[in-house]
Amino acid sequence: MAFRCTSCGYRSVKWLGRCPNCGEWDTFVEEKEEAEAGEPGTWIGEALRPITEIDLTEAKRLSTGIGEVDRILGGGIIPGAVILFGGEPGIGKSTLLLQIANNIAAEYGPVLYVSGEESATQLKLRASRLSVDNPQLFVLAEQTLSRIARAVDEISPHVLIVDSIQTTLSEAAPGEAGSVRQLREVSAALTRLTKARGMGTFLVGHITKEGGFAGPKTVEHLVDVAVYLEGSRGEEMRILRLVKNRFGGTNEVAVFQMGPRGLQEITDPSRFFLSQDERENPRPGTAIVPILEGTRPILVELEALVAPTGGYGAPQRRTTGLDYNRILLLLAVIEKRLGIHTGGADVYLSLAGGLETRERAVDLGAIAAVVSSLRNRAIPKGHVLIGEVGLTGEVRGVRRLRERVNEAEKLGYTHAVVPTGNLPKTKIELVPVRTVEEAMEALMLT
Ligand code: TYD
Ligand code: MG
Repeated sequence: MAFRCTSCGYRSVKWLGRCPNCGEWDTFVEEKEEAEAGEPGTWIGEALRPITEIDLTEAKRLSTGIGEVDRILGGGIIPGAVILFGGEPGIGKSTLLLQIANNIAAEYGPVLYVSGEESATQLKLRASRLSVDNPQLFVLAEQTLSRIARAVDEISPHVLIVDSIQTTLSEAAPGEAGSVRQLREVSAALTRLTKARGMGTFLVGHITKEGGFAGPKTVEHLVDVAVYLEGSRGEEMRILRLVKNRFGGTNEVAVFQMGPRGLQEITDPSRFFLSQDERENPRPGTAIVPILEGTRPILVELEALVAPTGGYGAPQRRTTGLDYNRILLLLAVIEKRLGIHTGGADVYLSLAGGLETRERAVDLGAIAAVVSSLRNRAIPKGHVLIGEVGLTGEVRGVRRLRERVNEAEKLGYTHAVVPTGNLPKTKIELVPVRTVEEAMEALMLT
């Protein structure tokens, strides 16, 4: 026998009045065996057969009509697959899925979009903004699992979208919608229904910081594919990240731009993040660095502003999109190895376009940007910088150097300042450096 906290999912062998994990009172319920009874669309299973007789045409993928989404999914939606679609509220999940739903409806036939959060009228309003108008797209404002299953029986959709799992309620399980228990039950039942019908299903899951609802992580193990839509609401840029895929590789990302007509795919992110003007006339304080998003290199601008601290205040250090502690450490390296004093200055560093990275491969670029701003001298035109910097000022190798250099070459950059060692063959001119001192010399920033 076991008990589980309905608020956070914490498991205990005995009943507890207060959850030691989330601190909520009176949230423990006895955990029963996964409820099977009463749920529609049980996965009956298939006939026993040798692997050689399984027909692969059964697994023909459906295109979402958006190239970048298909690429993330490994070529489209496999019938029978459950795809968890996570993200913070307001990030654009419903928008992108409505666009996808419309494309699939136009190409293949019936699609069912279930919304437990918006009325049909609200959905229609959003749809008209997005020019979503295919008659094969069916919408249902509904929160109860059995009624969703009935609608699936009625129209036999190729793809079902449930927006969201937190607002869907299974009558077969106890608890409120959005609790861990309900989330598991709803996701498990929809998975059985999906497999039984051979349709593709998207489960929308909100990530909430407050933790009032159980998050999509709670059901990741149940689904075939999990993607998360990320970005900050103030910025237009969105990243769709694949974190789990039973049918292919993970670690893929796709970039989108949120506009007045929904999410537009960005097929060439580097071009999107770099300003043409910056490429022609580099400004002091800007360094171009290739970062990896998944396995994909993207060129971005790293900007530094170093200005004397006014009055008697303590010098400020601010970072956006970069690891704050790492930057403090790099400032110490600048001080010690390059003999440049920043103690009396405010230092601001940011990665353009709302991107974020924890990669150490941007160390050299960060140092060069700071020095460039301080000296008020631009990094020479056409240069990109790649390299991790050690405490003693040595420039260290990074993973996927070749891919990063290739991306720079593709965008017309002429020089790459890189760590010494096994260098790839490229048309772009490589400037190998062993230390930050050598790098500053190569960039004429000494
Ligand atoms: P939404 O898809 O409702 O987010 P989620 O389902 O993840 O909660 O996105 C809502 C935000 O997107 C909202 O702030 C308005 C904005 N938006 C646009 O900028 N352009 C559009 O075409 C649409 C439909 C929404
Ligand atoms: Mg939504």
